[in-house]
Amino acid sequence: MDELLKIKEEALLKIDTCQDLKTLNDLRVFYLGKKGPMQAAMKSMKDMDQAQRVEFGKVSNQVKQELTMAIDEKKNILEEEVLNQRLRSEKIDITLPGTTIPEGSIHPLNRIKEELEELFIGMGYSIAEGPEVETDHFNFELMNLPQGHPARDMQDTFYINENLLMRTHTSPVQAHVMLEAQGKGPIKVICPGKTYRRDDDDTTHSHQFMQCEGLVVDKNITLADLKGTLELFAKKMFGEKREIRFRPSYFPFTEPSVEVDISCHNCEGKGCPMCKYTGWIEILGAGMVNPHVLEMCGFDPEVYQGFAFGIGLERVAMLKYGIDNIRHFYSDDLRFLNQFTRKE
Ligand code: DAH
Repeated sequence: MDELLKIKEEALLKIDTCQDLKTLNDLRVFYLGKKGPMQAAMKSMKDMDQAQRVEFGKVSNQVKQELTMAIDEKKNILEEEVLNQRLRSEKIDITLPGTTIPEGSIHPLNRIKEELEELFIGMGYSIAEGPEVETDHFNFELMNLPQGHPARDMQDTFYINENLLMRTHTSPVQAHVMLEAQGKGPIKVICPGKTYRRDDDDTTHSHQFMQCEGLVVDKNITLADLKGTLELFAKKMFGEKREIRFRPSYFPFTEPSVEVDISCHNCEGKGCPMCKYTGWIEILGAGMVNPHVLEMCGFDPEVYQGFAFGIGLERVAMLKYGIDNIRHFYSDDLRFLNQFTRKE
């Protein structure tokens, strides 16, 4: 009996001071299992008389019950502790500032391109593309600039070989589109894209730049259609109050040709450095498609007329956003690019 009580005291102390579930389980196996000290003590029952045996059996059952209860109680405490620890370690601080995902912005030239596309698609135009590596034939000949034509000098060219070159303008896309149409109108396209010239780079020149060509071929097309179209473009790009004016000019692929000015959006025409105090800003070249070009590209100039225009995207972006150096477009400087966020 003493032995039993000793075992109990010892077990209760160990259970009480036990720190983790694994040790507790080992204690349960040890004290309540078949090979434990309790079981060993019970072996002495065979030497007892009936009354002693009954008493011993009662006490040993009580001890077992007590130990079981103590172990269960401790188990609950330890389990709760484990849970609390896990909760503490896995706690999420919802007040911490989140990690923001860096967001890119649309390149200003792409924005202008997208704006132009939207505007002209809204007027029923479609978008055409042509190769950047172009033949001399398309870039010059079909644009009414035959070999030796003095106007070829205006466009210093990157030649790949005698017949291949980097297109100096988007105008050759006109020829591609017209030839594809096989003499049948109407044609209404814009062709935005990259262009290349052997210019020395400076604040307003870049050896690679972007243009957007426009071409309409149909019956009864006049200069008035061109003017109305470009007026819409000017208002959409630079504000409702813009006006445009035509000045006579020369391009081999148009006749007549015009240089188009818009009233200055910076000073509303009063005069400022942007418009060189004239109130007008030169913005693009345009004209009626030269009958010879129509003919070379498979259209009967007696039946069809057309107008065309060529817009420099860098120039439009520089004027619209007040950018003073064309190199910004091609320098990948994030301080510049980040100013054109998606939010705006
Ligand atoms: N291709 C000309 C250039 O690069 C721009 C141009 C002027 C295009 C008049 C046109 C046009 O379609 O009609 O300088």
